[in-house]
Amino acid sequence: MSVTPIMPTNKGAELHAAQELVSSVLGAMSDLLIICDVHGRIQHVNPAMERFTNIPAASFVGKPLSAILMPPKEDAQEKLVRHLKTGIAFADCQVGVIDAKGNPLPVSLNCSPRQDENGHAAGMILIGRPKSELQQAYSELDDALGNFEQAQQHLVASEKMAALGRLVAGVAHELNNPISFVFGNMHAMKIYGEKITAFLQGLDNSPSPEALQILRQELGMDRIAADILPLVEGTLEGAERVSDIVQDLRRFSGNQTEPLECFSLDPVMRTALNWVLRGTRKQPETEIACPEDLELTSNKGHLHQILVNLVQNAVDALAATPDAKVTLTARASDTGVELSVSDNGPGISKVNLGQIFEPFFTTKPIGKGTGLGLYVSYRLADELGGHLIAKPQKSGACFAFSIPFTPPGSMR
Ligand SMILES: Nc1ncnc2c1ncn2[C@@H]1O[C@H](COP(=O)(O)OP(=O)(O)OP(=O)(O)O)[C@@H](O)[C@H]1O
Ligand SMILES: [Mg+2]
Repeated sequence: MSVTPIMPTNKGAELHAAQELVSSVLGAMSDLLIICDVHGRIQHVNPAMERFTNIPAASFVGKPLSAILMPPKEDAQEKLVRHLKTGIAFADCQVGVIDAKGNPLPVSLNCSPRQDENGHAAGMILIGRPKSELQQAYSELDDALGNFEQAQQHLVASEKMAALGRLVAGVAHELNNPISFVFGNMHAMKIYGEKITAFLQGLDNSPSPEALQILRQELGMDRIAADILPLVEGTLEGAERVSDIVQDLRRFSGNQTEPLECFSLDPVMRTALNWVLRGTRKQPETEIACPEDLELTSNKGHLHQILVNLVQNAVDALAATPDAKVTLTARASDTGVELSVSDNGPGISKVNLGQIFEPFFTTKPIGKGTGLGLYVSYRLADELGGHLIAKPQKSGACFAFSIPFTPPGSMR
């Protein structure tokens, strides 16, 4: 016969009272309570969890924590898994608790280890505080701000690189003309030097006046004598232009303004044309229409560069044109000087017209054009207080801009 142990009535009443207390405390809690074992399996959830998720409390029991918690960020997931494994407490871990519809509801989770009566790890107690809409909005805003700042940093870095690339490409483009001009001149000087040496060697043999005359003609000494001064002058001009470009760069980096100068327009137009023609195989007919006394106070280097770019484009466009012609014009208006560079080439198609001033737009083969000439020229004209346009033409192309006699106030 088995004997049912009789609990002292006061102990049973105490236990009952304690259970009542615990369940009324759990029931009154607005925070979510999840109790799990050492393997992360849910043993108990409180009514707040039931209300919050719309899932009956009994359905949670036995499920792994990972089935109901969704860490929103990777680092949070790592944190959660690490703490569950090691049984170390954590606080304020942002997680999503999956509701009956499968949506993750934002909760801030605290976790403490739980021990059995012998002091061994028995699992974890997780207490979650649902985030209010405002808190949620703040946290989303915070995340968005973080993402935005990161994106902004990337953008700044990539824009800096792009700006540097544009600057380098622009400088290379500007340096290319004077350097090829100097290079061409130096090549001619080398040939002239060889001929002068040959002529001097001929003199050493004490030739007759007739033989000397023949040698002089054969070596083209008179042409050399006539050509040498312009060659040297041209080379100096090219070197000066390179030095100007370097000065421009210094000015750009130091943010200083370049002193303006008063100059005659005609020689600037001639030099620009000359520079391009020097490097051109098939020479087009050229015409410069500019009053000799036309003067202005401006940035000579900028103006020169615009004209070189426009003439270079005209010459390039004329490569396959019979009776090719480039015309440069300048005339005084009420407020300043109107300039144009035109050619009788194929002109610019309507499709391309809207894009020619964009950086890197080119219809030329790789290695021939970078698509910066018009972009740079447009900006330079703008700095001079002018506006560069492609004028509509029946045939050929015409680029025009007008600049004031004296520069806009900002340039002084
Ligand atoms: N005179 C012109 N006739 C016909 N097309 C022109 C003329 N000038 C410019 N273009 C067109 O505009 C494009 C852009 O000119 P831009 O000077 O900016 O660059 P690019 O000449 O192609 O290269 P880069 O000047 O950098 O060497 C040219 O590729 C060409 O298609
Ligand atoms: Mg060009």
